[in-house]
Amino acid sequence: MHKLVVLASGSGSNFQAIIDAVHRGDINANIVGLITNKSGIGAIKRAEKNSIPVKIISPDDSNSFHKNLLETLLDWNPDLIVLAGFLRKIPNKVIEVFSGKIINIHPSLLPKYGGKGFYGKHVHQAVINAKETESGCTVHLVNEQYDAGSIIEQVVVPVLPTDDADTLAKRILEQEHKLLPKIINKILTDKKS
Ligand code: GRF
Repeated sequence: MHKLVVLASGSGSNFQAIIDAVHRGDINANIVGLITNKSGIGAIKRAEKNSIPVKIISPDDSNSFHKNLLETLLDWNPDLIVLAGFLRKIPNKVIEVFSGKIINIHPSLLPKYGGKGFYGKHVHQAVINAKETESGCTVHLVNEQYDAGSIIEQVVVPVLPTDDADTLAKRILEQEHKLLPKIINKILTDKKS
């Protein structure tokens, strides 16, 4: 059975979509742990409800953050690491050790509206401000730069004239919840062959 580790910093609705896909049998893997940089977030409650081990790694000291993150990942030894709303940069050493095994979901059509500062509502507000007619979501490999690794797959979502950042975010999130489990399953299935 493949092993998945999820990293999240927020409500964890994408994490929940992965949990649901595993329960349905759409992803043939065990979620061996959730790593987060914050206590008291929704993602932790979702993990606890599903008996998934949680490791909270405080970001206060970046040296120990890097060390603890790497140690936890080496201990859990995942086949795939999924960033689902994780708001810390992954240290280069971790990327080196788990090369090609870390993916991220981002709520825009990268390379547009990606990089430092483009997270959460900021992404959707920028899309609206620029009067884009379409946006979407992207799953990509993680490299040393924010949101810049090879694109695996994107889903286009229309931007409606009536949209504000919240309505657009909601419509894109619905697509994220389908895209992320689909790509996880594809990567793990391809690994087997
Ligand atoms: C999602 O929009 C994801 O694309 C981005 O962070 C958000 C996380 O949302 N990287 P949630 O915590 O999964 O609800």
